[in-house]
Amino acid sequence: MTILVTGATGNVGRLVVDELVRAGAPGLRALTVDPARAALPEGVEVVKGYVGRPQSLDGVFDGIDTVYLAPVPAVAREVAALARDAGVQRFVTLTGGPGTEWHGIEADVEASGLPCTHLEPGEFMANATIFAEQIRTTGRVLGAYPTAANAPIALEDIAAVAARALLDDSHAGRTYDLTGPESLTHPQIVHEIGRALGCDVPFVEVPREEAEAVLADAMGEYAGWYLDGRAELVGNPQLPTTAVADVLGRPATTFAQWADAHVDEFR
Ligand SMILES: NC(=O)c1ccc[n+]([C@@H]2O[C@H](COP(=O)([O-])OP(=O)(O)OC[C@H]3O[C@@H](n4cnc5c(N)ncnc54)[C@H](OP(=O)(O)O)[C@@H]3O)[C@@H](O)[C@H]2O)c1
Repeated sequence: MTILVTGATGNVGRLVVDELVRAGAPGLRALTVDPARAALPEGVEVVKGYVGRPQSLDGVFDGIDTVYLAPVPAVAREVAALARDAGVQRFVTLTGGPGTEWHGIEADVEASGLPCTHLEPGEFMANATIFAEQIRTTGRVLGAYPTAANAPIALEDIAAVAARALLDDSHAGRTYDLTGPESLTHPQIVHEIGRALGCDVPFVEVPREEAEAVLADAMGEYAGWYLDGRAELVGNPQLPTTAVADVLGRPATTFAQWADAHVDEFR
């Protein structure tokens, strides 16, 4: 079985490559815009191209059975059809839940007629790095909606589930709502980062406008969109699912474990 990982240096794609190498995947091809810069592991066949530019995909799918499809909604339908016509048998897609900008990828890829596994992660734990600069420079976090809670997931867990689904066709036809193991507020997340750093990092509630201005340093124009999402979680928390543990047979990574592993990003 030969697997193609697209967006192979992406936040998720790069970790999917690592998981597949660790699992001893028998045939592995990685698609990247710049093979020289990608520095992918030994033994991985590296080809040049980008799913966002279907015209760059000539020959990329030849000999491939299963594709990990990085999320590019505008071209998902076209790319899936190209892959099917080249002999691909199955897709594992990174998408998002209903209402997100990535959700339409699912119907677009299913239009190819091929079996799919859809991975719908919620917020990534890695998004906590939006607080890194504040923590480094002021030792505290200014924010809004302190009671808003969701269940962020580690990128490593998304990649591990993707690798399982790529290697085992019994996941075909399934859609996984992927979350971390617990619902957390931003004050709780900031507290855990402080614990990992070995100091107290307070979360200070400020008016929405002030929180947005501070967040814009890290998120630019997306700060307002992000805070709108937090507002929706007030009184309506995202609850954790068991999908990661069900697929992997081990508990999902906790935020405390993530913070310990990524603490240097906050120093
Ligand atoms: N709930 C969520 O938060 C959620 C859910 C689903 C998806 N997402 C989105 O999915 C992303 C994570 O998926 P990912 O790891 O595949 O994405 P990513 O980290 O944004 O990486 C995408 C990869 O595609 C390739 N690429 C080539 N040309 C590009 C271009 N012009 N623009 C963008 N990418 C280009 C690059 O890899 P090469 O250099 O190797 O070609 C790049 O690293 C997140 O950043 C998020 O935006 C988020």
